[in-house]
Amino acid sequence: MLGTQWGDEGKGKIIDVLTEKADIVVRYAGGNNAGHTVYVGKTKYVLHLVPSGILRRNKLCVIGNGVVVDPIGLMEEMEGLKKIGVKVSPKNFLLSETAHVVFPYHRELDASREALKGTNKIGTTKRGIGPAYGDKAARVGLRVNDLVDKDRLEEKLALRMKENNALLKSLGGKPISFKKVLGAYRAAGEYLAPYVTNTVVLLHEAMREQADILFEGAQGTFLDIDHGTYPFVTSSNTTAGGACTGTGVPPHRMDRVVGVMKAYTTRVGEGPLPTENGEISDLLHGMGREFGATTGRARRCGWFDSVATRHATMVNGIDDLAITNLDGLDTVKSIKVCVAYRRGKQQYDYVPNDARELAECEPVYVEFEGWCAPTHRAKTFRQLPLKARQYLKAISELTNARLYIASVGPGRDQTLFP
Ligand code: IMP
Repeated sequence: MLGTQWGDEGKGKIIDVLTEKADIVVRYAGGNNAGHTVYVGKTKYVLHLVPSGILRRNKLCVIGNGVVVDPIGLMEEMEGLKKIGVKVSPKNFLLSETAHVVFPYHRELDASREALKGTNKIGTTKRGIGPAYGDKAARVGLRVNDLVDKDRLEEKLALRMKENNALLKSLGGKPISFKKVLGAYRAAGEYLAPYVTNTVVLLHEAMREQADILFEGAQGTFLDIDHGTYPFVTSSNTTAGGACTGTGVPPHRMDRVVGVMKAYTTRVGEGPLPTENGEISDLLHGMGREFGATTGRARRCGWFDSVATRHATMVNGIDDLAITNLDGLDTVKSIKVCVAYRRGKQQYDYVPNDARELAECEPVYVEFEGWCAPTHRAKTFRQLPLKARQYLKAISELTNARLYIASVGPGRDQTLFP
């Protein structure tokens, strides 16, 4: 399961719904830049690293090797969950020994580089994600198995701190205390050690026992480091291929790809958003919707972009769609849907790779008559207004995948199956 837009598609809720039928939920990419909001009854949970499956009993949650882990953040999240009565133990939660670790210098570098870029900034979450994946690609990163080995941690960290403090100084930042970081990370390593395992072998053993595994994507297709609107992207492969490399499960073992999308479009951070529109932004913000779960930032909003979602279907091989936030459009009289992009004389039915080229694209719209009625109380798909059902059908056809779920609110009971 993955996002087909620019993240924040409502994946937390859909994962929670799909988890009912799964044995294992595994997160494959990203870090605590993600924020998955799930409501169980009236209780709101915001998860950043721990897979949303943790909220259901008898499910094993796994953080795969493709994730970058801030161990202090993870520890706090686990403790926060325990405090509100959610069971978290090595029986239901495991962490890959080869996931990379995020350190404070990654966060500082993330912030310094953004400041240096000025108006060209990416608008990152400042969680150190880019620098942590950068270290992984440069083969100088520390992994979870380094974190849980006290001596190895000290030796490797000393070297990394030397280089990163020099780098921070050159960018006008303050050096970070090695002693403090070592102390905090040793404690985190000790806390997390019982959860650490070879998750690749674990997942293959589970597959041999016919376990159902759900792969939890974070962010969205157009934030993918390869397929997104580079450089306004995150630093991991958020698309379907990332589920293989980020867990060690081969492609032919994946049965089905579920793409999650909003009934409109949103984006946080900078970068092109062809269907961005002030009217719909004001409307959704006025309803108290579309504020980021991780940073609280107001999301940029726009009309549904079927060029983007169709492209996402192509890149991810999406079979089924979960369309969320339909109720956000309940009061809109005339709903626009982007069906192509135009740039000068050129028409596109795919998303150009170059962010500058995309920024010059004008959306070509078709209009749908709104249903102008509340949908959040619908308990079955048939109970939705006819025009709402027609809209859902049209956007799934334009996206080139089957409509599988429509969601009309954050609750588990606001999930409709056509
Ligand atoms: P980073 O992942 O913090 O480096 O941020 C890079 C870009 O991805 C920025 O535009 C962020 O706003 C965006 N981003 C990162 N994580 C999320 C997410 O979970 N939802 C939506 N956007 C995200």
